[in-house]
Amino acid sequence: MRTYKDRAEMDERYERTVIQLMQSQAYRELAAAHLFGHGLAFAPELRWIKFMTWHIREEVEHFEAVARMYRRFTGDDVTPVVMERLEARPVDRADSWFELAMAQFLFDRGGFWQLREYEQCSFLPYRDVIGKIIDEEAGHQGLGERMVVELVATGRYEDRKHRDFVKWLRHGLLSFGRPGTEGNRYAIEVGIKKRDSGQVMQDYLDDIKPAVKACALTFPAPAELGLEMPPMLDWSLDGVEASDAGRWHAPSRLAD
Ligand SMILES: [Fe+2]
Ligand SMILES: [Fe+2]
Repeated sequence: MRTYKDRAEMDERYERTVIQLMQSQAYRELAAAHLFGHGLAFAPELRWIKFMTWHIREEVEHFEAVARMYRRFTGDDVTPVVMERLEARPVDRADSWFELAMAQFLFDRGGFWQLREYEQCSFLPYRDVIGKIIDEEAGHQGLGERMVVELVATGRYEDRKHRDFVKWLRHGLLSFGRPGTEGNRYAIEVGIKKRDSGQVMQDYLDDIKPAVKACALTFPAPAELGLEMPPMLDWSLDGVEASDAGRWHAPSRLAD
């Protein structure tokens, strides 16, 4: 597979595609920082306040890493582009600590699986930048999953768990973009990404199934989500082990 570093080596379509890719990633990272920044208000204990500031800081660092790459490539600042997009499509917010945990689990895990599709990206600078982001997203969403499972187990969130689940599942699935498009096919063909969005959606769903089962949640009917998804997606929870949920371990800096 041919790889690229500089703009001069690319044709117009490849160049346009990587610029869009960087803009979308920068949007996602700053949107995450805003979502969790807003959510700081719900952190119930000092250790969680500290944890949220750590999470927000990491999202800002992800944004900065993408912005630096963008500037090297285009000579421009991506911030105004992202701010304009955030104004047009403000990030959804969480209204409680429980919902924030759900967002951390499902929105960040969407980002995690989405980025993994670019690990072998033919645009080399992108590979370097996302390596660090993927490692950190693994921590965010893993802790989010554990929090959701533990909070649901208290029995205090029965009246809202399904609503919050559907809302953030939808956001998680939106991370992958529309499946089966011409743009998808092109990006795969030139080695920018590995697979079509539909296949990534399946990995994401399989990955969250143990927690879905552990929380006694059920997947909504695909129509309820109002997203374009391949009809062959497997939503079944048969054979899924609820005990596989929450496998993540806290980094030592949080274990106080
Ligand atoms: Fe991030
Ligand atoms: Fe994150």
